[in-house]
Formats: sequence, structure tokens, C-alpha cells
Amino acid sequence: MKKSILIACFSCWCMTVLAQADIALIPQPVSLQKNEGHFILGSSTRIQVSAQPDAYRVGEILAGRLRTTTGYPLPVKQVAPSMGNPAGAIELQLQSGLRLGKEGYALEVTPTHVIIRAKEPAGLFYGMQTLLQLLPKQIQHNKKDTSVAWTIPAVTIEDQPRFAWRGLHFDVARHFFTKEQVKRYIDEMVAYKYNLLHLHLTDDQGWRIEIKSLPRLTEVGAWRVEKTGSFGTFSPPTPDEPRTYGGYFTQEDLKELVRYAADRFVQIMPEIDVPGHSMAAVAAYPELSCTPGAKQVNSGEKFMNWGTGSFSAIVDNTLCPANEEVYTFLDKVITEVAAIFPFEYIHMGGDECAKNFWEKSTAVKQLMQREKLKDMHEVQSYFMKRVEKLVAARGKKMMGWDEILEGGLPPKTAVMSWRGVKGGIEAARMGHPVVMTPNTNTYLDLMQGDPSIEPPVYSSVRLRASYDFEPVPDGVDDKLVLGGQANLWTENIYTTRHQQYMLWPRAFAVAEAVWSPKGRKDWPGFISRVEQHFQRFDEAAIKYARSMYDPIVQVKKEGDSSVSVTLSTEVPGLDIYYSFDNSFPDRFYPQYTQALVPPKDALSLKLITYRGKEEIGRQMTIPVVELKRRSGIRK
Ligand code: ACM
Repeated sequence: MKKSILIACFSCWCMTVLAQADIALIPQPVSLQKNEGHFILGSSTRIQVSAQPDAYRVGEILAGRLRTTTGYPLPVKQVAPSMGNPAGAIELQLQSGLRLGKEGYALEVTPTHVIIRAKEPAGLFYGMQTLLQLLPKQIQHNKKDTSVAWTIPAVTIEDQPRFAWRGLHFDVARHFFTKEQVKRYIDEMVAYKYNLLHLHLTDDQGWRIEIKSLPRLTEVGAWRVEKTGSFGTFSPPTPDEPRTYGGYFTQEDLKELVRYAADRFVQIMPEIDVPGHSMAAVAAYPELSCTPGAKQVNSGEKFMNWGTGSFSAIVDNTLCPANEEVYTFLDKVITEVAAIFPFEYIHMGGDECAKNFWEKSTAVKQLMQREKLKDMHEVQSYFMKRVEKLVAARGKKMMGWDEILEGGLPPKTAVMSWRGVKGGIEAARMGHPVVMTPNTNTYLDLMQGDPSIEPPVYSSVRLRASYDFEPVPDGVDDKLVLGGQANLWTENIYTTRHQQYMLWPRAFAVAEAVWSPKGRKDWPGFISRVEQHFQRFDEAAIKYARSMYDPIVQVKKEGDSSVSVTLSTEVPGLDIYYSFDNSFPDRFYPQYTQALVPPKDALSLKLITYRGKEEIGRQMTIPVVELKRRSGIRK
């Protein structure tokens, strides 16, 4: 008898501990209190919502998610809060008096009921996302699973975001992604409480938005030659190679996406990137260039020279700031864009505009004289100021990349700071709103681990750097920082699978930086939550990168021709094993404890990480010549 009581108590204790250990919310809520017991979602569970249609809509979204996997009927009923008997129910209540902001929510899970309260429907939606993360990972399946006990640990959560702007950017210009792929992107981002999708719609490699008054933009500008390999190094297209790769969104497609996003409390900010990054536009309408002659949509062949901190165009990919037709063109584009997207901002680019062809243009020289512009930065500033007026005339506000500070910022424009946070600091000091997207922390197109094992890109941002992202630098008025954003450029991203690999887990880290309260950083705790979300992604068949498990390799030149190699790991508590004999190391090989110097004739260093007995990283091979090259040895 005593023994069975003991066993019962022990299993009770185990269940509580297990349930509690499983709480792994991303982003971290403002407050979380774990309580005793758990709610069991069963065949008789119902969803009760307060009378507003939006509450009903969120209730239906929740029911849809839960029905798929649990197979339970989960009827959704509208009830007045006073009339509802919450026992056995999941309740969603809109309460106007709640003091948790527009997107905040309170979530209470007890053994008898679940209640999400919010002031606005968005709060109910985010409360629902948290609730989903409290359910067993199998809730991520897309088919019924009868083997799971659908328990939700008892908790009291109060939560609201730190920033109103929680952005995720998606470049659909370099590689085109379809409407369905964009919807999936939205589905995945909202699970982590992102609320702003920045769609980069135009670039040198494609114009992706139908402009009815300018049909050649998509007839010509949306298509290029299909090339596979490493962007920027492709062979120049030959005349016989078909220009059939690409695509574009019709205005109806985009309106559908706007609705789809709005139903999930996401706003879409369109970007039309001018005056640089405009090869697709000038291929369609060559008269918009300062440089005469036909142009082609770029297919990934080299057309710019990139130096350290400088660049120039080999083929002119800019709109001509001295041509009045350009402003007529942009007025048409902006008018149609403004009519599609309800969001208050239109992003007009302004980044990386090569000026070397402008320098040669007689029309630009005349413009400089007429407008008393002293250099090319002022020429671009003149252009952006005129664009700002076109945007304002359509009732919108303009945003641009931080280059628009050079030569003078248009008076009302908001700045998206990407070359670190410097531009954002400068713009905020001038009283302009800013969004922080520093390439040092939030550029998710960059490599997330050692170049020997990652798909090659010109630079890296490891998970730790994304986790360390702080949107408000010291000394900046936080009221001017609208929020932060992670950017996903797709020069080297061809598919949704690889898009997912690049996004996750770094987008977990950025989600937390823009939602969770400041001063809550806890790297080991974050890693442990990330690992639980990896398991959820396994259930959902969403790809993610395991790069955080691989060693960080640092090299130092030793004498004239030797190198010493220092290894570490981002994830705490991993062991690194290595070989120099070309065979694959495992945990019975030498363990890394101190800097390594390759034996004289060794060809390669091979590495693997373990957590205890579990192989956890990927086999990594770095040729010794590569180690030497990294250290600065040139032969
Ligand atoms: C940028 O990454 N060129 C904004």
C-alpha cells in the first residue's frame, strides 16, 4: 500500500516536473508562473469566445490547428463572459479594460480551464501562439495523432511585446518565391510573434510586382536566365539561353497576400528599391537610365565591382536622377503600390547605388549645376527627396536604407539601419524614426557557421550574434526606435527548404530581441529552448540549421609557415574531437583541450562535436592550406 502511494506520488511528481521541464517559450514572455497540474485537452473540450467577430476568428484558427492533430471536434461558441462555464473549455476573451497594450495577453491554464484575455484580437492571437507552444511537440504534425496525451502545463502568463515593429524581410526579387511560399513564410513567422513582413519586390534580378500602367516591368523585368551555383560568379548569359526563369505577383495575388497576412495580424511593407538595384526596371524601360543602350535583367553574372567599403557598377543599374521621365515612372509605380498595400510605409530602397555612371552623365552634371548639388551623395539625396514627395502625395510615409542619410535625409523619411546601427543612431539623433536591422546581427542570408561547412556567402552571422542583438543602442531615444528586423536576401537561396535553414534558429533569437523585455538574456537557457523548438520543427518537417553545434575555428599565424588553431563552441558543454590523419574523428579520437598546430605534412583537420556520448555536430573538414590561408599565410 505504502509502496503504491509512493509510486503514485513519484509519478505525479515526475509528470509535474516533466510538464514543467517542457515549457520552452520563444520569445520569452514578460512573466511566467508555473503552477501545479495541467489541463487535459480531450474530446469534450470546447472553445468559448467572447462576442466580437475577431475573437471568433482567432478561436476558429486555434480550433483548426488543434483539430488537425488531436482529431477532437473542438466546437467554437460565442458566449458572454459572465454566462460561460469555463470548466473544460478554452476561453478567448476580449476585455477592453485590460492593461496589456494592443498586442498583449494574459494566459491562465489551470487543471479545469484555459483562459486567454486580451484587449485586442492581436493579443488573443499571440496568446494562442503561446498556448500552442505549451502543447506537446506533436501538435506540430499535420495529421491526426492518437498516441499523444494532449496536456498543457498549468501556468499564469502575462505578456506584451517590447516593440511594435517585429519585422522579417523576404527578398522575392533575387529568386522568385510564389504566393503559396510567401503564405508559408507568414505562417512560420507568426508562430514567433513577428508582425511585419518586409517584401523586397524589385532588384537587379527581377521586378516582381505587376504595375498595370507599366506592363514591360513584368513582361521583361520579371524574367532572367536560370543559373545555379554561386551568385555573382555565373557565366554571362548567351543569346540562346531562355529568359524564362522568374515570375511576379499580380495585383490580385498581392491583395490576397495582404489579406492573408492581416488575418494573422501581419502587415506587409512593400519595397521598391531605387535608384540603384534597378537593372530589371531599366531592362524594361532603358530610357530611364542615364546610360544609353539596351540592358538585361541580371542573371547572377558579375556586374558590380565590390571593394572593401566601396563599389562601382560595370553595367549601369540605376535610374537617372536627371530625367523627369523617371519621376513620372515612379509616380505611376508608387500610385499602384499605395493602392495595394494598406501599410503606412513604402520602402523606397536607396542602398548601394553606384554613382560612376552618373559621374559621366551630362544630364547629371546639368542637374548638379541647376540644383547646386556638390557631389553624388547630394544628387541621390535630391532624388530621394523627390521620391518622398511622391510617396507622401499618395498618403504614405517613406522608409529607406541608411545610405539615404548621405547627402541629406529627406525631411520625413524613416531609416532602416543595416550597415550596423550607426545610421540608425544618426537618424534618431535627427528625430527620425528608425528600424534596426544591423548586418552584424540580423542578416540571416549570411553564413551561420564555419565556411568549410556552410553554403558559401561572403560573411557570417552566428546564432550568438543574433541573440546579442539589441535594437536600442546606448544614448538613443527609444521612442524613435520602431523596432527591429531580420533580413533574408535570397541571392543564394533557391528553395523554401534552404530559406528555412537560413532563418532558423537565428530568427528565434531576433524574435526574442524584439518581443521580450530588455535585460533577460540567458544564453544557455536560450539554447535549451532552441533545442526543444528543433524537436517541434522536426515534427512539422521545417528545416533548420544545426550550425550552432559545430566548432568555432580561430587561427593564428605561427612563424612564417605554421598556424595554430583554437577551437570553441557556441553551445555550452560540448566536447570537440579531431584528427589530422584524414579519417573521420569520433569520441574515441583525441579531444581538443588546447591550441592545435597541424603536423608538418598534414593535409586536413577534421572535427566533430559530442554532447557526452551523443554525436551532435556535423563532420567538418578544413584543409591545412585553408587554415594557413585564413591565418594570412599566402602559399
Ligand atoms: C542591403 O543589404 N543592401 C540593404
